[in-house]
Amino acid sequence: MRRAVCPGSFDPITNGHLDIIERASKLYDVVHVAVLINKNKSGLFTVDERIALIEETCGRYGNIEVESHSGLLVDFCRDRGIPAIIKGLRAVSDFDYELQMAQMNHGLTGVETLFVPTSPTYSFLSSSLVKEVASYGGDVSHLLPPVVHRRLVERIAERAGQ
Ligand code: PNS
Repeated sequence: MRRAVCPGSFDPITNGHLDIIERASKLYDVVHVAVLINKNKSGLFTVDERIALIEETCGRYGNIEVESHSGLLVDFCRDRGIPAIIKGLRAVSDFDYELQMAQMNHGLTGVETLFVPTSPTYSFLSSSLVKEVASYGGDVSHLLPPVVHRRLVERIAERAGQ
């Protein structure tokens, strides 16, 4: 089985993530989507909610496994026999940090990182920007799967009412 991982925070998953995961799912037998837990960041969605949204939106690809992980990505890969990390590159600005991480991860365990250029439609898209625009009432419905958009609007309304 040829395996790869698409790692990220996925808070929440966007159409940009889906673009990369779908393309990876056509290249590999199994694509692991790893929700990395960052102790220093509190998300808008819990890790379980993020996993549920990924499962709902990626299930149709048929070869996706979704899990959370707290710790190093290279350990996640080693424990599951995953030789490749797939990352979307949106613009040149992503490249410096992504290259650093790729070189560090390769130096740690030999895991490879493969970069996929994002669709130009999503080259500006990030979960943070979507959350910011939505929190001020901006329309982000074209940037998210419908179920994610619904939950985002609900969550922002809940937070505003607290
Ligand atoms: O969606 P994000 O927040 O841009 O994803 C970044 C992520 C989670 C892929 C990256 O921070 C990561 O790999 N974190 C896991 C911890 C780790 O392995 N850190 C060392 C990287 S060289």
